[in-house]
Amino acid sequence: MSNMNCDFDPVNGRGNATVQSAVRLIDVSKEYPSGNQVLRALDGLTLEIPTGEFVAIVGRSGSGKSTLLNIMAGIDTPTSGQVWIGDVELSQMSDDALTEQRRERIGMVYQFFNLLSTLSVRENVALPALLAGDPEDEALSRADRLLAEVDMAHRQDAKPHMLSGGEMQRTGLARALIHQPTLVLADEPTGNLDSRTAEQVIGLLQELGQSHHTTVVLVTHSVEAAAYASRQVELLDGTVVSDLTNSV
Ligand SMILES: Nc1ncnc2c1ncn2[C@@H]1O[C@H](COP(=O)(O)OP(=O)(O)O)[C@@H](O)[C@H]1O
Ligand SMILES: [Mg+2]
Repeated sequence: MSNMNCDFDPVNGRGNATVQSAVRLIDVSKEYPSGNQVLRALDGLTLEIPTGEFVAIVGRSGSGKSTLLNIMAGIDTPTSGQVWIGDVELSQMSDDALTEQRRERIGMVYQFFNLLSTLSVRENVALPALLAGDPEDEALSRADRLLAEVDMAHRQDAKPHMLSGGEMQRTGLARALIHQPTLVLADEPTGNLDSRTAEQVIGLLQELGQSHHTTVVLVTHSVEAAAYASRQVELLDGTVVSDLTNSV
């Protein structure tokens, strides 16, 4: 591993205007009230993620990883600072606009899969596209293509309770990509998988990111999972304490 040189200028943006960032956080803080004090979950965090990168966010429990991901997703709003997703700055947006932006541009992968138990695998995968207003036949045919890519075509009619953990998360990966997001955010996606299945899922996440030209932000505790990323950003107490490029 070598040190990553990240000369991001928060005022003028990148020097090279042809390289668009997928994500830019500029001096982002998030405070929570805690008794009569404040708890600073993020503390003046600045981070730039180029389009197409696969970055792992690592750091001990409580360091701010989930808060950071939720702010990128527009699920949480920062107390101060700017959050750019592509050319959109989130902190000025209404809740409705944030929801729409999330539906259109962001795919989420969850530790506990969050599959709907009454829907089949195929319906679970198609759902985000349907919620975004895509015609049903289009959503279902995209779901079929993605299920083939994650090797779940043979399980398309199964209900979630019939699946193994790895199958659930492969379904989760297909669902995250159904509406062709520019950014996939995954919070501990292997936290409930055994180590072998975890490696398969992260390998698949890496492959899908490349084949779909999608930027991927992976929050993980796992050293093995983080090694699949091209870059590792470590948080401590809500700030970046190291930023490393993974050697190939
Ligand atoms: N909704 C909340 N209300 C109060 N404190 C919170 C909330 N969410 C997170 N925190 C606190 O913010 C800090 C960072 O949490 P989190 O982002 O979940 O860390 P990580 O994902 O790295 O474990 C922790 O101290 C946590 O207790
Ligand atoms: Mg967390």
